[in-house]
Parts: sequence; C-alpha cells; structure tokens
Amino acid sequence: MSTARAALARPTSPATGPLTVPSALQLVGNTPLVELRRVCDGVAPGVRIFGKLEGFNPGGSVKDRPALKMVEDGLARGALVPGKTILDSTSGNTGIALAMVGAALGYPVELVMPGNVSAERKKVVAAFGAKVIYSDPLEGSDGAIRLCRRILAEAPERYFKPDQYNNPANSLAHYETTGPEIWRQTEGRITHFVAAIGTGGTIMGTGRYLKAQNPDVQVIAAEPDDAFHGLEGLKHMATSIVPGIFHEEQLDRKIGVATDAAYDMVYRLGREEGLLLGQSSGAALLAALEVARGLSAGTFVVIFPDFGDRYLSTKMWLGWASFGGGRT
Ligand SMILES: Cc1ncc(COP(=O)(O)O)c(C=O)c1O
Repeated sequence: MSTARAALARPTSPATGPLTVPSALQLVGNTPLVELRRVCDGVAPGVRIFGKLEGFNPGGSVKDRPALKMVEDGLARGALVPGKTILDSTSGNTGIALAMVGAALGYPVELVMPGNVSAERKKVVAAFGAKVIYSDPLEGSDGAIRLCRRILAEAPERYFKPDQYNNPANSLAHYETTGPEIWRQTEGRITHFVAAIGTGGTIMGTGRYLKAQNPDVQVIAAEPDDAFHGLEGLKHMATSIVPGIFHEEQLDRKIGVATDAAYDMVYRLGREEGLLLGQSSGAALLAALEVARGLSAGTFVVIFPDFGDRYLSTKMWLGWASFGGGRT
C-alpha cells in the first residue's frame, strides 16, 4: 500500500476504551501506537517502527502512570494520609502528573523544579493547584533533588514524598501497564523496545515485562550524549546521581544522542508524520533508527513520552527556522 493510502486507511479494530469514566485517573494508560512511515529512511521494508503516544494521558505524559501508582501505593501503605502534602523534585512531567493526581484525589502538592523548566510546564502545574519551589537552574535536576531533600528533612511529618528516583512503584507502573499494553498492541510481535531515560522507570518496568514474555526482546535506552544537553526530562547517567531504580545491566544497549539531532528529528516528525512531539521522543527515535537500519526484519516500539506543545516557548523551537521552518 502506498504511504499516503496506508496513512488514510480506517483502523481495523474499533476503539475499545471506555466512553465514560468516573474520574481523570481512569484515563491514565491505554495509549495508542502509531506506525511511522516517512521518517524511517534507510530502514528495510521488513522493519516496522511504532511510536507509543504517551501524550494522550490526561496529564499529557508518560509520567501519569508512575505518579498514579506511587500515590496509590502511598495510600495503601498509610504513608499518605489526609493532612499530608505530596512533595517531590521533578524536571516537569512528573510534577504535572502528581499535580493532576493530587487534584483528582483532593491532596495538596508541592514541587521542587529547576527554575529554567519551560513556561508551559510552570503554568500547567499552577493550573492544577500545585505550589512550585524553584531550585538553581545551573544545578539541573540534581539541584532540585538536593533542595527537595532539605525541605523534607526540615518537616518530615508534613509530607509524603513519592521519590520517583528510588520508588519501585515507578517502574512497577510500567511493568503493570505499559508493558502489557505494548505486548497486546503488537500481538506479541515486538522485537525491540526503545525509551529515553530520566528516572529509568519506563525502560526498566516495561523492559522487564516484555523480556518476561519473550527474553529475546531487545531493550534499548537512549540518553543525552553529553552532560550539558537540551533534552528536558532526560539524564546523562555518567555525570548524574544514578536513580536507585535504574539498573543498567538489565539493558541490552544504551545509545547516546546529540541534542541537535534529537531536535531535528522532532521537526521532521511534525512535518513528515503529522506528530508534534517532545524532544525526548526525537532522541528515542534516533536510537531506534540506529539499530533498525542494521536489520532486515523487526518490530520496534519507541516511547514518545509527551507532545510538543509544552515546549513551544523553549529554545528547541528556535532551531526550527534554521531547519527550514514551515513550508510556504
Ligand atoms: C519528556 C520526558 N521524556 C522521558 C522521560 C524519561 O522517563 P523515565 O523517568 O521513565 O525514565 C521523562 C521523565 O520525566 C520525561 O519527562
């Protein structure tokens, strides 16, 4: 089928999601896979590449899954009780997700984030009613982690801290939801799973589930190729505080991606696939393409953690003009 005709074909299965749900929390997960066609140059026809569109979660990112699971787990353990405030350090998406979950459940939320996160993120968090405490932008996400630890140490009885970097419920959320969804959506055909790493929750939990179904599934991480990068939400592990839930030995490969190359891929995804995505999606797809180009067959699933509209005011979109800007 031609690329244009394939893109226009009606879905073969009807939507099965619920039409009415009791709260926003039931909308977390069950995100669609979209097949990529035009940005896959140099990839053999036997290799199919799908993006999992996590921007469809109600808080707008993949982080809704761990945020919900960590809060549920806190409630179940009695660590989160009425009167306590949810507190965490976050580079943005987890904060938005915790703010959304807290609002839906009626718990206050306080977030420590680097002062340079995008204006859209700050506003979204505020819209969900969360209080934001800014850390030194020059210290990146590690600075936010350190400031959050100090705030907690001063009044531990006031707070419930999900601690996404060390909380097993983070990766468990993906083991219980992202992994099974991908397995079902590909009817067990997945050969390669690719995700960019921040806390490592997505790659660890999803990868573990997929390998439990088929140990041959290759689990590939994308990370910034440099400590000083412009890929919001991602960590360069060699120069960062390594999250407690991240176990590099469980990966089959880790591929470094340059910031500019990831941005260019995001621009292409918008113009050539009709998908406006965040920068970490571009990074993950580049890592997937690097592996896919050496194969004659395979089914890749790449996590696209969020949509691009929450980055439109960032420096990432300054590069759009030199890339060619919009077609006129
Ligand atoms: C935009 C974006 N991409 C990727 C990730 C990485 O996900 P994880 O923390 O599960 O490794 C994050 C994490 O916050 C993120 O915000």
